[in-house]
Amino acid sequence: MLDNLSMGHETAVRWGPLAKVDLRDRGHVFSVFDEHRPEAVIHFAACSFVGESMEDPGKYFANNTVGSQHLLDALVKFEVKDVVFSSTCATYGEPESMPIGEDTPQRPVNPYGCSKLMVEQMLEWYGKVHGVRWAALRYFNVAGSDPEAEIGEDHDPETHLIPLAIWAAQGKRDRLSVFGTDYPTPDGTAIRDYIHVWDLVDAHLLALEYLRAGKGSLQANLGTGKGHSVREVIDTVGSITGMEVPYVETDRRAGDPPELVADARRAVRKLQWTPKVSDLPTMVEHAWSWFKK
Ligand SMILES: NC(=O)c1ccc[n+]([C@@H]2O[C@H](COP(=O)([O-])OP(=O)(O)OC[C@H]3O[C@@H](n4cnc5c(N)ncnc54)[C@H](O)[C@@H]3O)[C@@H](O)[C@H]2O)c1
Repeated sequence: MLDNLSMGHETAVRWGPLAKVDLRDRGHVFSVFDEHRPEAVIHFAACSFVGESMEDPGKYFANNTVGSQHLLDALVKFEVKDVVFSSTCATYGEPESMPIGEDTPQRPVNPYGCSKLMVEQMLEWYGKVHGVRWAALRYFNVAGSDPEAEIGEDHDPETHLIPLAIWAAQGKRDRLSVFGTDYPTPDGTAIRDYIHVWDLVDAHLLALEYLRAGKGSLQANLGTGKGHSVREVIDTVGSITGMEVPYVETDRRAGDPPELVADARRAVRKLQWTPKVSDLPTMVEHAWSWFKK
């Protein structure tokens, strides 16, 4: 495990050694590869706050794009063939039609999405030129926690809806802000496709097997194809926790599309992936078990 612990937590590292390394430090990345000689890489490291990226784009290009380039160069130098990369639905921007298939044009509307798209493009070239085999997994909204509540979301600042709704219910923070109630959706609030982190783990392992079996590189959406509105999430958090979620309705946030829902059939077809725990009540229940602890 390689992480600079800028956002991560040492206590979340349960298996294998942790090397405290910043991807921006090319020499350090190379020396860790030299020391540990990995067989394959799953690349999660990134800054991922859309709002921050609009204020400080350079941070996102340096950290996410240049950092990833260092990693890819290390892959080439140490002859590591396979890499699974955490991409995002933010690479699509604001598509005109739903659900979003992998062939939907990628037109990011913020530097975060752009920094990730640039990595996808680098992967294609490192594949063509150096033979790197890659999977770019475009996550939609990740939720839930380890089902045994050993590891869960621990972000500072927290920007994800389910943790924020749970915190509001617990009285750990002010009322939840509902950004926009006049969207062209059935209840007026924005719709997103939530995917359980546990199902995401499965998809990564299947993607790695797929690459190692020489079946080719791929981009694949990871979502369920079913969207949930902000109100639905609030109601579900209310019923699972048995507590009211206090909220305040505010204006829409710039750049928040009404609906983002995946067409995730490619991952199902190519990776034989089946999301098992990504129904909304289970995701909230697991998140709630974690936050209760
Ligand atoms: N959570 C989501 O809903 C979601 C959706 C789409 C994509 N993603 C992507 O999934 C990945 C994981 O997201 P997360 O929500 O767990 O975020 P996170 O912030 O918890 O995890 C990112 C990790 O990367 C590390 N890191 C950041 N910059 C680094 C650097 N330069 N060198 C070394 N380590 C560095 C952080 O310390 C942290 O441990 C990210 O790449 C993110 O963009 C997440």
